[in-house]
Amino acid sequence: MKKFLSLLLVLTLLGGCSNTTTTTNDGAMNEEKDDTVLVTEQAAETLEEAEPSLTTEDGEVYQDYPLKELASNHNLLIGACVEPFYLEEEAYVATLSKYFNVLTPENRMKWSFIHPEKDVYAFEEADKLVDFAMENDMKVRGHALLWHIQNPDWLLASEWTRDELLAIMEDHIKTVVGHYKGQVYAWDVVNEAIDNNAWRDTIWYKTIGPDYIEYALKFAREADPDALLFINDYMVEEENLKSDFYYDMAVDLLEKGAPLDGVGLQFHIDMNTPFDNKSIYSNIKRFADLGLLIDFTEIDVRMSGTPTEAKSRQQREIYESLMDIAVSMDSVSSYTLWGFTDKYSWIPGYFTDQGYGLIFDEAYAPKEAFYGIGNSLAKGPQELPYEKMLDMSNRLSAKAMIAKKASTIPTIDGLETDKEWDEAIIYKLAYNQINSNDQRSPENISDASGLFGLLYKDGYLYGIVHRKDDRTIGSYGESYQNDNVEVFINYNKYFNQLRSLVGKDFENNPARDSLAVWNEEGTIMEFKISMPEDDLSGLTMGFNMALSDSDNMSDGRKYQLYPFAGSNTSYMGKDLGLIWFEGDTPRPVSFEQVIPALQIRSTLIHPELDGEAKEIEWMESSGYPMAYDLYDERMKASPVSHEDIYADFKIGHNDTELYGMVKRVDDVTLVGDDLMFSDRIQINFNMEGYPMNITSKVGENKTYEESGIAIQTIWNTDGSNFEFLIDVSQASGEIKDQLMSALSPNTILPINMMLYDVDEEGIIDYVLSPFNGDYTEEVQYRGEMEIK
Ligand code: XIL
Repeated sequence: MKKFLSLLLVLTLLGGCSNTTTTTNDGAMNEEKDDTVLVTEQAAETLEEAEPSLTTEDGEVYQDYPLKELASNHNLLIGACVEPFYLEEEAYVATLSKYFNVLTPENRMKWSFIHPEKDVYAFEEADKLVDFAMENDMKVRGHALLWHIQNPDWLLASEWTRDELLAIMEDHIKTVVGHYKGQVYAWDVVNEAIDNNAWRDTIWYKTIGPDYIEYALKFAREADPDALLFINDYMVEEENLKSDFYYDMAVDLLEKGAPLDGVGLQFHIDMNTPFDNKSIYSNIKRFADLGLLIDFTEIDVRMSGTPTEAKSRQQREIYESLMDIAVSMDSVSSYTLWGFTDKYSWIPGYFTDQGYGLIFDEAYAPKEAFYGIGNSLAKGPQELPYEKMLDMSNRLSAKAMIAKKASTIPTIDGLETDKEWDEAIIYKLAYNQINSNDQRSPENISDASGLFGLLYKDGYLYGIVHRKDDRTIGSYGESYQNDNVEVFINYNKYFNQLRSLVGKDFENNPARDSLAVWNEEGTIMEFKISMPEDDLSGLTMGFNMALSDSDNMSDGRKYQLYPFAGSNTSYMGKDLGLIWFEGDTPRPVSFEQVIPALQIRSTLIHPELDGEAKEIEWMESSGYPMAYDLYDERMKASPVSHEDIYADFKIGHNDTELYGMVKRVDDVTLVGDDLMFSDRIQINFNMEGYPMNITSKVGENKTYEESGIAIQTIWNTDGSNFEFLIDVSQASGEIKDQLMSALSPNTILPINMMLYDVDEEGIIDYVLSPFNGDYTEEVQYRGEMEIK
């Protein structure tokens, strides 16, 4: 039953307890890649010459794709990093020379190897790699002339003056590049010059200043005018704060006339937080528009634990979609992996319990990822679907969080006194973004849960957070590893991430006046932050909050709960939600941003529609909480306790079906003849123009058809589990094509999903939804889901 408590009481309780062509015009220095016909014929020829198919499984022909021939047909290099001693192994050499047409020395051209003493250069090992490449008709990518790690002691131990260090740098670059003149076709001149979204504080930066990169490029150009010169970095693959910095750096270098030919995107991908392809696409486009080449320089796709069928398939998808981008965008000139066999990879040595990131297994057998890459290369350049997704004009955003104008300015003292917060709307920290696939709230509410409310006055944002956690951690190594609350603001070019460890003020916020104060128990935090505008009324900004929970060091962070779904990249300025400072005259958002769509993953496992909602069958599907109550005007957060009413769901798809399950906890189930007087679920989709509506009273199992689409709903006996299935395979002709395209990756589906809780005839108690919003609003769809 709904308890009509005052906001104060509720909080206290908690506290105590396509069609756009993208293969051309991206502005690069390129020749024939858009000559699709030619490419296709050549590819076909090469495929015919290739060895016969290896295996046939699920109708797919597993072709021994001649990767390097296919790639060169598309003007693309395909490469791997190599260590000289691997070359002693026959199988290694056979695979390397068969499939790749460029290699990168994994370590041997790094300073500590090639220039171990001030007056000693040691080329022998790197020479072996270059010789091997020449003998096998492969190119060599030089890596890396300047980097902040793998440097010799002699370089780091002394204090150099600017001129001394410039002279040392000139000698190094000219000697190394000079030695390989005509043999190394491209150089990573400066590696990883950026730290988050600022200059990395390296010996070069500290001693010489930011113009060290111009010098380095100039020296390299002088030593070999024909070599292509790159800067190279990680976490710059998508559009985010770091890649913004990278972009500005490239613009600056070009404006200064520095000989920069391209940028390297490393692509060390963690399968738990895969990249966002459309963001990669738009990022590449902006660099290409500068006339730069974009090289994928160090690709690997690591997984946690050991491979399963599902993980291997997901890995393949990532490799394949990345190759789709590489082969379809003219300005991408190389696709280089950081190794190629799982036998030799830096991953297990650097990432705890992670591995299996490459495309051949330890015994050199091709993995799913190999076929993915091959398949993409055999298809050749295609129209990428991302262009249409970048068009924000059709996007529908879930509702922003509202900060109301405060009539009494809250005292920031960590004590919830008076009625100062009574006017604030209360939202929930519910989406656990630590686990990108399953963002449902912790099952046990005392593990971690949180609510927050927001107010503003003039140029200040005020907030209160109620936190529940059975264990508080506050003294681990890095501050983010401790229990903390974060606030993120993103407004035009202004980005700020503020972190407050339990019991402490915000860590540092030099640019703004701010304060965070906790009560003694660590259950209430109050804060204020001055914002980048003096008059906030009517403004909308990018906004997010996070409640992080660690219980012990070795397990790392257990939960990181946000009010929105996302990829846990708010710290990079990505995937934020929105805040609206309620005002009489809403001011238009001056930047394009929508609240991140929920994902619908494709799954191999087909869940059985039996009303049992067995977790194992839904393991691969995406999970989210029904975090909001649309019905209450102020308490937007769904009840924190999992007693009164609670719901979360999982959703997945395959080529022809969309399926989901809802877990529901309700103390009183009421089902009457009249729909209005019944506990029920309502789901509205828009599938590329086809509206789909499922309404199911608790216990109402139905199988029916709408425009040839089969729909099924099923509950278990006590109404705690609901499952649904939308099957378009029997639809006819054009309708079927349309519906199947709605189920293809990168499609955005507007959706509304509501769980009604009616406890007394005629009285709605709650309407739970994954999206924030108001019940009274006449809207058909409240948020978006994206087919993955
Ligand atoms: C790694 C090598 O793979 C390891 O063998 C070595 O111990 C450390 O460096 N980004 C880069 C590469 O630019 O040079 C790094 O290579 C991986 C991360």
